[in-house]
Amino acid sequence: MLQDREQKKLKSKLKGKERRAAQKAERAKQAAAQLLVNQANAQSDPLSKFPSFVNYERNGLSCNLICKKVKELEPEILQWAIELCKDNMRPLYERSSQGWQECDKVDEMSEDAAWYLVVLDKATDKPLAFSHFRFDMDYGDEVLYCYELQLEEACRRKGLGRFMMQVLELVAFSNQMQKVVLTVFKHNPEGMNFFKKCKYDIDETSPEDSYEESFDYCILSKLNKMKPTQKTSL
Ligand SMILES: CC(C)(COP(=O)(O)OP(=O)(O)OC[C@H]1O[C@@H](n2cnc3c(N)ncnc32)[C@H](O)[C@@H]1OP(=O)(O)O)[C@@H](O)C(=O)NCCC(=O)NCCS
Repeated sequence: MLQDREQKKLKSKLKGKERRAAQKAERAKQAAAQLLVNQANAQSDPLSKFPSFVNYERNGLSCNLICKKVKELEPEILQWAIELCKDNMRPLYERSSQGWQECDKVDEMSEDAAWYLVVLDKATDKPLAFSHFRFDMDYGDEVLYCYELQLEEACRRKGLGRFMMQVLELVAFSNQMQKVVLTVFKHNPEGMNFFKKCKYDIDETSPEDSYEESFDYCILSKLNKMKPTQKTSL
């Protein structure tokens, strides 16, 4: 009897020790992940290491790609991006549960944390497409979150969107992010098909429909194959 009690005590002591060790490991993992996010955000041009990815010359398009923090982006380009986003996305937001909240979208697109990948026509210097993205922590993981991928109608179906996603992946994985994450409306079949073709899968954080609740969006991601996920069980 006494032996039993002693054994139980020892077991619970060991469990407590294991839990504390797991918590310590999780805190260290979070700190390391945050450091990577901070380092990624501290650079000035994530494309400077990849000179062969700053040109796109295919299917009748001849363009340059630039990558800047929102603070360094020309105000006219930001204004153009906001207008393009509104033209492309307003009807989709209006069909969603959240509706189109223009001020919120403008605020989101202008926040200091926003980065922009912008495609410019070489001949005219006019912007053709952009992605708003961020290096951020997402459910404890260091990620590149793609907030927007928007192309002018005239330059679609020419492989440019896929190329931009490849550039984002290069930027993400060269900065040791765990994955590229994005949200897409389920009632945007073109967008859904596009990301499927780009080999994006449903992310583990994507909400699941139930009897009580259904969601009009899903979260997709592509994992960094060079960086296996290390979930610490608490
Ligand atoms: C979705 C979008 C980014 C795709 O960019 P894109 O440059 O036209 O796409 P790509 O030419 O690289 O297409 C790659 C593949 O995706 C699929 N795809 C792209 N557009 C598609 C569409 N409208 N319908 C069905 N499949 C599509 C195709 O399989 C395509 O390959 P293919 O042309 O060889 O058949 C672009 O249409 C866009 O800006 N749409 C409006 C905004 C939007 O919905 N953004 C995404 C959600 S945030």
